[in-house]
Amino acid sequence: MRDNRLVTDIKSSLDIAEVIGQFTSLRRTLRGYSGLCPFHDEKTPSFHVYSDTQTYYCFSCHEAGDIFTFIMKKNGLTFSEAVEVLAGQAGIDLSKYKVSSSPKRSRSLFDVMNLAGEYFRECFRRLPGGKAYFLRRGFTENDAEVFGLGYAPDSWDGLIHSLRQKGVSDKELVDTGLVSQGERGIYDRFRGRLIFPVKDLSGRIIAFGGRTIAGSQAKYINSPESELYRKRSNLYLIDKASSKIRESGFSILCEGYMDALRLHKSGFTQAVASLGTSLTAEQAGLLKRFADRCYICYDTDSAGVAASIRGMYILLQSGLDVRVVRLPEGKDPDDFLSANPPEKFSKALDESLSLIDFHIETLRPMLSDPLRRKRAVNELWEGVKKIDPYEALRYLGSLSNAFGLPHDEIQRKILGENPQESQLVKINSPDSVPIDNGLDCAFCSLLMKYKECRLAVKPDEIRGLLADEDAIITAEAILNDDPEKLMNLWLTIGDDTRVAIIAKGDIFLSGIKGSTWQEKLETIRSDLKAQKLKRRIRTLKEKLKVNTASLEEANEFMELRLKLQKLKI
Ligand code: CTP
Ligand code: MN
Repeated sequence: MRDNRLVTDIKSSLDIAEVIGQFTSLRRTLRGYSGLCPFHDEKTPSFHVYSDTQTYYCFSCHEAGDIFTFIMKKNGLTFSEAVEVLAGQAGIDLSKYKVSSSPKRSRSLFDVMNLAGEYFRECFRRLPGGKAYFLRRGFTENDAEVFGLGYAPDSWDGLIHSLRQKGVSDKELVDTGLVSQGERGIYDRFRGRLIFPVKDLSGRIIAFGGRTIAGSQAKYINSPESELYRKRSNLYLIDKASSKIRESGFSILCEGYMDALRLHKSGFTQAVASLGTSLTAEQAGLLKRFADRCYICYDTDSAGVAASIRGMYILLQSGLDVRVVRLPEGKDPDDFLSANPPEKFSKALDESLSLIDFHIETLRPMLSDPLRRKRAVNELWEGVKKIDPYEALRYLGSLSNAFGLPHDEIQRKILGENPQESQLVKINSPDSVPIDNGLDCAFCSLLMKYKECRLAVKPDEIRGLLADEDAIITAEAILNDDPEKLMNLWLTIGDDTRVAIIAKGDIFLSGIKGSTWQEKLETIRSDLKAQKLKRRIRTLKEKLKVNTASLEEANEFMELRLKLQKLKI
């Protein structure tokens, strides 16, 4: 468990304006600073930093929070990672705090990987093998520098010798997976190979991949899973791609080392590679931190296409907007971009298919073969069932075409096969108007601050009063538990939704009419009621406009308008 002193110490030794000032230029105001919002594009400053509460708020895009949420959001980090970064900026020595059961140890394994990376790079520069191969594949020495490429000479103990001299123990060599264990002791795992360092989000080497340059043995070998390296949760080049993914709103996912390098070299610096393993929800989550859309660019003609489609559904289920890019048969992105200009690849991105449409396309020959049609229909249906029915309804046209059934039949099938989820479709229906949760947050923060207020609010009042689901959960939690304990818990587990709600609430609360908590509570209550009324009125008005309102709804509209007028008096 993380020591909470650490969080407090970081907060007290860093000024929020200094932290945020690294991302946008700030000008002094009465309560703090203001500037252009670092979270969205704007011409006039709506972003405010409050010195007294050490929080920020954007009046335009409503981002709000403290230094931790800021760094998390801006750099796409988890809470723990943000703590590490900010501790670094504050010059706080993490080893003084109990961070995890073995902090020293995993840090030194990173150091070992780093030393190995240096050794491989040095060999790349000094010896001909790796460099010659890399240049032959159309890359430059500068590319090698930028991506930290290395070379493992054809030796059983070159790396072992070099690292032992630097004080690395054999146990550390084994634990990092840099060596293999034979009958007569350890030997270098990577021999006679071009080396690709695999880094985590913060750029630390966690594994290596090695490609043979001679051609006889396995084409690629990789570091085994270790304390540092978990294949399923990592993506090659994510450290270099994350900011561009955020900026452009999409990622490009390919299979191999060379593909990812070629894409970056061709200007598609949103590219990451899954390194030939099957896709996981963790990898989807990693990508989703930066953008919702993901273009998948796999070899689509291979025998493994069924397996890769399964992986794509995992990404879709994790909430990514999956687009499948098709390149000419037998071509991977590296082949394609070696033979074509980048514009051709951009065109392939534009012509990408949704996963359902892509799936239908791969099944097309089977669908038109009477003997295999049933199997194809079942396989496609398995896929459709995996996705949110509301989402699936978008493909009615393609599906009705593929299944040879009319639209309403397909619709019934989609909704009927998922009775629970068909509820979901109703909830998501377009008559809900987007809400701004400022008042909801202020309500939570008022509860957080005043014990008497917690006693004055009834738990069953909350759901009727608040509109924002996250705020509802937060408020209910506060009524049920000691707020201070809760806040520590949220900070510890990195529950940024909760932390952000309170931070935003604090800011809103200071602007709410009333000098005592009772007065503020009254204001919030009546403003929330008015807000709810307005939302309902707006919905009814829309319906009246397009003539879909019932007589009852028309009457309700008139009544509510009167009610709202009274509230305003
Ligand atoms: N891979 C692996 N082990 C293998 C083969 C492949 O780990 N024996 C992984 C590698 O990460 C590789 C990716 O799967 O980059 C894709 O494999 P493949 O398409 O066979 O190789 P390419 O990336 O096209 O490599 P190259 O262009 O160098 O032939
Ligand atoms: Mn290739």
